[in-house]
Amino acid sequence: MIIKDIISKEIMEQSGYSPSEPAAAIRMDANENPFTLPSSLKKKLFQRMSEIELNRYPEAGAPKLRAKFAGYYGVDKDMVMLGNGSDELIQVLCMAMKGKVNGILVPAPTFVMYRIIGVNAGNKIVEVPLDKDFDLDIDAMCAPISPVFPSLIFLSCPNSPTGNLFSIEKIEALAKNTPGLVVIDEAYADFSGQTLIGLIKKYDNIVFLKTLSKLGLASMRLGFLIGNPEIVAQLDKVRLPYNINCLSQITADFFLDNRQEFLSQLGRIIDNREKLFFRMKEIDKIMPYPSSANFIFFSCAFDSDRIYEKLVEAGIIIKNLNSGLTRNCMRVTVGTPEENEAFLNALKSAVSEQGE
Ligand SMILES: Cc1ncc(COP(=O)(O)O)c(C=O)c1O
Repeated sequence: MIIKDIISKEIMEQSGYSPSEPAAAIRMDANENPFTLPSSLKKKLFQRMSEIELNRYPEAGAPKLRAKFAGYYGVDKDMVMLGNGSDELIQVLCMAMKGKVNGILVPAPTFVMYRIIGVNAGNKIVEVPLDKDFDLDIDAMCAPISPVFPSLIFLSCPNSPTGNLFSIEKIEALAKNTPGLVVIDEAYADFSGQTLIGLIKKYDNIVFLKTLSKLGLASMRLGFLIGNPEIVAQLDKVRLPYNINCLSQITADFFLDNRQEFLSQLGRIIDNREKLFFRMKEIDKIMPYPSSANFIFFSCAFDSDRIYEKLVEAGIIIKNLNSGLTRNCMRVTVGTPEENEAFLNALKSAVSEQGE
C-alpha cells in the first residue's frame, strides 16, 4: 500500500492540529474557564448522571434540549442544532456546502480550525489579512465574493487569537454583499458584553455558533448552531444521529438549571483579564492588545519561541503563534489569580533574560 495513493494530497500536506502540548502544571493555552464547579454542584450533576441507562442510545437530535436552548438564546426551536462542540458544527457546515468549489473565506489571523476542517472537507480556503487594528478589511474581504462567491465566511467575534470584536457595520456589509452564508462564531461573546444574535432577524444568510466550552464545560463538548430554520433543517441531515452523548445532554440541561453559578464565574474572569492586561503592559518589550475575550494576545520585541521555551521550563503553557502574520506573537488564557501571577513572574524573568 502506498499511503499517498489513497490519502488526499491536501491532507498529506497538513501538519495536523495537535492541542496536546507538553504536560505542564499551568495550562493557559486553550482558553478554558480556569475555575471548576463548586463540589456541591458537581455532586448534583453526578447524581443525575448516575441514572443514565448505559445500554440505550442517547436521544437523537436532543429535541428537548434544542427547545430549552432555543429559549435561552431567544429563538425558535427549529433554529437550533446541537453539536459535539462547535468544532463539529464547523465540520457540518464545511461538509454541506454545494460542490465545495466556491470555497471558504476567512480573515487572517483567526481560529485555525476553520482552515483545517474546511480543507479536510474538500474546500478551498481564501484568507484575507485583517487591517492594522485587527478589524475586517472590508474591501479586501468583498473582493473574493465576486464573480464567484464563497459558500461560507467564518467570522470569530471576538476573534481568536486577536481578542477583539469586528465592527458591526463591516459584518453587516459582508452579509449584504454575499449570497453565501456568514457564520458568526460567538465562542467568546460572553466575555465581551455583546452578542450579535439580533442580526438573525435581519439577514437570512447569517448563522451563529455558540459553545459551552468557554463557560466551564469544555470536557462535555457542547456547541450550538443558530440560524434560519431552512438552513438548520438541511445541515441537520449532515449531523451524525447520536452526536451528543447522554452525559453531555444531562450536563447541558444542568447548565441551564444552574446558569447563574456558571455565569458568575465569567465576571471573575473578566476582572482578572483586566488586571492581567495592565500588569502585562508594564513589562518592557511586551505589547498586549485589549481583549474582549478570556485571553490576551500579545507581541514580543524578540523571538517568541525563546519566551515560550522559558515559560515551559517554568511549567506554564501558553499559545505560541510565531509564524506568518503572527510572527513573535503569543496568546495567553486568563487563568486563576494564582496562575496569572505565576505567568507574569515567569514572563518577566524570560524577558529580562533576553536582554542579557
Ligand atoms: C473561535 C472558536 N470557535 C470555536 C471553538 C471550538 O469550540 P468547541 O470546544 O465548542 O468545539 C474554539 C475553541 O477554542 C474557538 O476558539
